[in-house]
Amino acid sequence: MNSHKTSLQFPVICGLAAFLGLAVTACSPSPGKTAAPGPVPAPAPVDPAILADGQRIFNEVCAQCHLAGEGVPSLNPPLIGSAVLKDRPEAAIRNVLKGSQGKTIVNGQKFTGIMAPLDYLSDDEVAAIVTYVRKRFTDTPDPLVTPKQVAAQR
Ligand code: HEC
Repeated sequence: MNSHKTSLQFPVICGLAAFLGLAVTACSPSPGKTAAPGPVPAPAPVDPAILADGQRIFNEVCAQCHLAGEGVPSLNPPLIGSAVLKDRPEAAIRNVLKGSQGKTIVNGQKFTGIMAPLDYLSDDEVAAIVTYVRKRFTDTPDPLVTPKQVAAQR
């Protein structure tokens, strides 16, 4: 690697790009990759009616075990900060449709509770719930889950 060469070329290339009116990502003053994930979920374009549906069903069905997202130690896992919820929406959909037992591990800890299958919920309802919990409990910039994604996991 020749860092001298790179540091000399960089401003020249960026200056030329600016002169020509080109957008060169490497020349942008604040690259997005330095942004640290925060505890506050980023805003996302989700229909408020879907979130309202998701919240209503969450309170009716999920909150008895997951409470307000914090769960019950050693019994029901927390949803706040769940990596599955954030990064694997399909797996979260399957959790709801098919239930789960003995599989969840958070900070090396397993949970003894049983999540029963909730497949009586419609595709629209599951999509609304999973969208709602992803938006409320994770910092994913793109919480939306569609009924089509749910149908694919049934
Ligand atoms: C009867 C209690 C109960 C209910 C009701 C329930 N859950 Fe769960 N949930 C659990 C348990 C227990 C686990 C862990 C199962 C395991 O260890 O495999 C779990 C796991 C999960 C996970 C996986 C978390 C992770 O980090 O891997 C998600 C997501 C989830 N539940 C979402 C929901 C949603 C959304 C609802 C409502 C539609 C719901 N749960 C209703 C008890 C419940």
